[in-house]
This record gives sequence, structure tokens and C-alpha cells, in this order.
Amino acid sequence: MVAQAQSSQQPSEFGTGSPAVRPLCDAVGAEVTGVDLTNLDQATFSLVQAAWRAHSALLFRNQQLDDAALIEFSRRFGELDMPPVNENGKTFVADHPEIYVVSNVLGADGVPIGSLGAGEAVWHTDMSYLPMPPDASMLYSLEVPPSGGDTWLCGMDRAAGELPDDLRRTVTGRSIKHDGTYNSGGYLRQGLTASDDPVTSVGTPHPILCRHAETGRETLYLGRRRNAYVIGLPLAESEALLDRLWAHATQAKFCIAHHWRVGDLLMWDNRSTMHRRDPFDAHTRRVMHRTQIKGSARPAPSGVSAA
Ligand code: SIN
Repeated sequence: MVAQAQSSQQPSEFGTGSPAVRPLCDAVGAEVTGVDLTNLDQATFSLVQAAWRAHSALLFRNQQLDDAALIEFSRRFGELDMPPVNENGKTFVADHPEIYVVSNVLGADGVPIGSLGAGEAVWHTDMSYLPMPPDASMLYSLEVPPSGGDTWLCGMDRAAGELPDDLRRTVTGRSIKHDGTYNSGGYLRQGLTASDDPVTSVGTPHPILCRHAETGRETLYLGRRRNAYVIGLPLAESEALLDRLWAHATQAKFCIAHHWRVGDLLMWDNRSTMHRRDPFDAHTRRVMHRTQIKGSARPAPSGVSAA
């Protein structure tokens, strides 16, 4: 059974009480309570950083962040990356080009104000088709639907640690090409040509077993399943290996589902987690603002040899 992230903090407790960290499940994520992200002193930020390194994803409930405050908090973790090109070719927030809007809501022009619609967003790691993907992403909820639209996280350190021996031997030293043709909602990225050929589609190879640049932990780096390709293998072998890797990594014991409330900030480390989103009723509204922290290093092989 998959864990559901539940908050112990009620709205009236916004920013009050002592800062505390509570793991959300064994494999990934922790909730930090008793903090106001617009007013974090250095000691509290150090606690947040330690929790970040330990848990790979953090949840803060009951925050009140405008775009400037979201950007200011995000910048404490590093320089910001520009968002990916959206399927509609839109720049989202004129004054804050760093903000990526994830939304199904239509603007006055009849075009969605954000990306990914109301359908499922499949398991992925943000912008892994780039040579230097963003280290982290932060998603802040402004409007949430009454049901659906939960965001799931998968702990890839734990998934790497529990790889069956034969699977570990097979993937050691190998790389996956991370496809850049489609986003996680299945939309073709602006300016690209549709392709369903994993061998020839555009993308960047990254090692399957990586060493996290900051924590030093070994992690599985899978990206996005569609059009993924294990370099050097015949396509049928690559497909079978990828299916096995995804089935292993997305087992319930490595995953947690986050059910959103307005004012939640969920941040995840793209180097050691994957995430996906449940679909929701397209007649309801969901508006999220996202920032992403620039990559500090290319994903590097773990250097762990096969047993
Ligand atoms: C994303 O993949 O960045 C968006 C996830 C979500 O909408 O919950």
C-alpha cells in the first residue's frame, strides 16, 4: 500500500511553533512544520538543508508565497534555471520568466495558462533530456481541484539500494538516452518533430546508476519511460530492460502520494527522485507555480562495479 502524505499542521499553525521534520515514508520525503518560508533565519534554513539532503523531497504546508517570495526561497538552494519550453510556446509569468506554470486553466485567449493539462503526468525526472538537468524543482499550489491531481514521488536512492543483483550487474556501466521529444503529459515540445523511435529520437544519454554530487549516495536515474533507450542494446532488449527497471523503481514501497492543499510547497531533488501526477476532472481548476534550481554537475556514474 502506498503511503499518503498527511499533514499534522493545521492552517492556524502557519509559521508558528518550533521547526520540526517528520519523514513521510521510509523511502522519500519529509514534512517540515513550524516554518514560514518568507522568514527563515540561517539556523532554521540549516535544518531545512539537512532534511533536504536526508530525505530528497520536502513538504511545507500552509505557506503564503507570491512569485517573488517563491523565487527568493528557491534561490537559497542555488541559481535558478529557465523553465522548459511549454507545449503552447507561452512564457508564463511576464515579470518572472523563472516561473513555470502547471495548469489546465484557460486564459482569455482560450489557450491554457500553463502546462500539462488535466491528464496524467507519467513518472519522470524534470528536464532529464538536457546534458545538465536541474538539480531540484519546487512546486507551489495556488488552486487545487476537489479531488485528483495528487503528485507522487519515488525514492531512487532506495530503489538503487534494493536492485536485485542480476539487474545491478546488467545496468552497471550502461546509460539511458533520455528523450526530449515529449513532456510528461505526452505533449510534443515546441519546435520538435514527433517521433516514436527510441533509437533515433532526440535526447541525452546519462548513466543509469549515478552518484549524487552532494549526498554521495548511489541513485537510479531513469528519467521518462517513453522513447527511453539503453545505449548499445538492440531495441527489444532495451525495452525489456527498461520495463524491468521501471517496474522495480515504482514499487509501492518506494513511493508516496501527496494530496494537495492551497499553500503547499513541495520540492524534490531531480537527481534522486522521480515524480508523476494523477489526472483530475478537466472542469475543475488546478494552478501551480514551479521553479527549478540549475544543475550543478552532469549526472555522474556511481562507479560501483558489479558484484
Ligand atoms: C511536474 O511534473 O512538474 C508537475 C507535477 C504536478 O503537476 O503535480
